Amino acid sequence: MRRRDVPGRPISSVPANVPLSREPHDPTDGPANAPSARPGPVRGNAAVPARYEPQPSVSGVPHQPAPQAAADAVPGVVIPTDTPPAAGYETEAAPSTYVSRETPTREEDDPPLAMEAMRAVQILNPSGEVTMPRPARTRVMCVANQKGGVGKTTTTVNLAVALALHGNRVLVVDLDPQGNASTGLNVPHHTGVPDVYDCLIDSVPLEEVAQAVEGIPNLWCVPATIDLAGAEIELVSVVARESRLARAIAAYPGHFDYVFIDCPPSLGLLTVNALVAAQEVLIPIQCEYYALEGLNQLINNINLVRQHLNPKLEVSTILLTMYDRRTRLADAVEQDVRNHFGDKVLQAVIPRNVRVSEAPSYGQSVMTYDPGSRGATSYFEAAQEIAERGVKEPVSRNA
Ligand SMILES: Nc1ncnc2c1ncn2[C@@H]1O[C@H](COP(=O)(O)OP(=O)(O)OP(=O)(O)O)[C@@H](O)[C@H]1O
Ligand SMILES: [Mg+2]
Repeated sequence: MRRRDVPGRPISSVPANVPLSREPHDPTDGPANAPSARPGPVRGNAAVPARYEPQPSVSGVPHQPAPQAAADAVPGVVIPTDTPPAAGYETEAAPSTYVSRETPTREEDDPPLAMEAMRAVQILNPSGEVTMPRPARTRVMCVANQKGGVGKTTTTVNLAVALALHGNRVLVVDLDPQGNASTGLNVPHHTGVPDVYDCLIDSVPLEEVAQAVEGIPNLWCVPATIDLAGAEIELVSVVARESRLARAIAAYPGHFDYVFIDCPPSLGLLTVNALVAAQEVLIPIQCEYYALEGLNQLINNINLVRQHLNPKLEVSTILLTMYDRRTRLADAVEQDVRNHFGDKVLQAVIPRNVRVSEAPSYGQSVMTYDPGSRGATSYFEAAQEIAERGVKEPVSRNA
C-alpha cells in the first residue's frame, strides 16, 4: 500500500508562497463574479455612498496622479502642468483638469489589498473547519467534454482543492494520458510511477496508486503517466472493458466525499470508463462560439451509457469557464447554455483570469497560488454551490 497519509501540514503554512500583493490588472477579469453582479462569499463593504462626492485628501487636494509620474507612465504623452482652472470650477484646490479616476465601486470602501487578504483567508480556510457540507455518500463526478482546452483539468484541480481545503475528502483520478491534472497537483507521474493504467489494465487496487497531494490535507490523486496512452487500445481486449474504473472505485468505498475524474478530450474507452464509474457528469463549457458544437454528441454518449451501462448517470452540473466580459459573445453563450440546461448551470462563472493559467506552471491550483484572485474566488464559489447542491438534492450513489 503506497498511499501516504497527508502529514497534516498546517494549512497556515500555505500562505507563505501566496502572493497577497495586488493582482496585476487583468483586463479579462469578468464582471460575472463582480460583487455587484453575483452574490458571493467575500464581498467588499456594501456601504456604498448613494452619490459620489470627490473626497478631499489629507491635504485637502483631491487625489490626482502627479503629472510627471503620469507622463512617465504613458510614454509620448505630455501632460501640461499649468493648465488653468475651467470657468465655474470654484475650488482653487481642484483644478479643472481633474478627472476622477476613482468612480466608486462596491469594492471601493475596502482597500483591494485588504479584500484580497480576506478572500485569501476564506479560501485557504486556515482553521481547517468543515465549511463546505460533506455529502452523505461519495459523489463520483466525471468532468467531461470531448472538446479540448475548455477547462476540464483546471476545473477538476481547482474544485478538488477548494473542497479539500474546506474539510471534504477528495480523490482526483487523472484519466488523461496528458497527465495535466497530475502536473497541476504536483504529483509525480513520470514513467514507472504506478498510475491509473495499472488499475485499468492490471486491476491494481486504487489505494496502491493514489498519492497524497502535498500541502493540501484531504486530497489524493491517482496520476496518469504516458502509459495510459496505450490503454485505449489495450482495453479493447480486456474483460468488462467499460467498467474497469467503476470496479476500481467501488472496491475502495467510503473513503472519499468526492471522486473527480478528469477525462481526456475524446469520447473513447477512457471517457466511457469514467461515465460508467460516475453518478454525475460535470461539463465545463468555454464561453466561446464553438463551445456548443459537439455538445449534442457528448449528451448522446451520456444517454447511451445511461441506457446500457450506468442507469444512475446524470448530467448534474454545467460550469461556464473562461468567461470574457469584453465580448458580447460570452454573454450570448451564457444565455444559450442557461436556456438549454436551466438550473444545472452553476451561478458561479469562471472568468478568463491570468492567475488561473499561471498556477499549473508552479504545480499549484489557483486556490493556493493566488487565493485572492478572481479565478480563485470563482472556483471557490463554484465548489460551494456544488457542495450545497449535493446536500439539498442528494443523488443516488453506489459507493
Ligand atoms: N479561467 C481561465 N482563465 C485563463 N486560462 C484558463 C482558464 N481555465 C483554463 N485556462 C487555461 O486554458 C488551457 C486549457 O485548460 P485545461 O487544460 O484545463 O483544459 P482541458 O479541457 O482540460 O484541456 P484538454 O482537453 O487538453 O484536456 C490551459 O492552458 C489553462 O491554463
Ligand atoms: Mg485536460
